[in-house]
Amino acid sequence: MTSHDVTLEWPDGRTRTIAVREDESVLEGGERDGVGLPFGCRTGACGTCVGRLLAIDGTGGGGDAADREPIGDAGDTEPIDVADAFAYRREPRALKPRHRTGGYVLLCIATPRADCRVAVGSQVQSELVDNPWK
Ligand code: FES
Repeated sequence: MTSHDVTLEWPDGRTRTIAVREDESVLEGGERDGVGLPFGCRTGACGTCVGRLLAIDGTGGGGDAADREPIGDAGDTEPIDVADAFAYRREPRALKPRHRTGGYVLLCIATPRADCRVAVGSQVQSELVDNPWK
């Protein structure tokens, strides 16, 4: 089974690259590799597991790290399409269309189709969902 390297990046600078098979979700690949990622429903409904696609290897000029462009940065004119990096097992109900075009990806149901880098951490979820309690 083909696998792809998914590099998870936390806001404090930690990174972890996991090999995720095309038949498993990023969340499942992380669990197999001992990487803890947040989750709730595991069905694409709650948004707890959300990450944000930063770059796909092989895009932006040959896949060299120096050539990778994050999505959504000021001046970014060519957003990366999440569909180039991930397939979904089912409808990602927790994501609105603007979230999908903004690079957000539900790691509980997303299966990789390319090597890529994904921002993870609580701030990514905060970007996605307004917290009515604060
Ligand atoms: S855990 Fe609920 S959407 Fe992924």
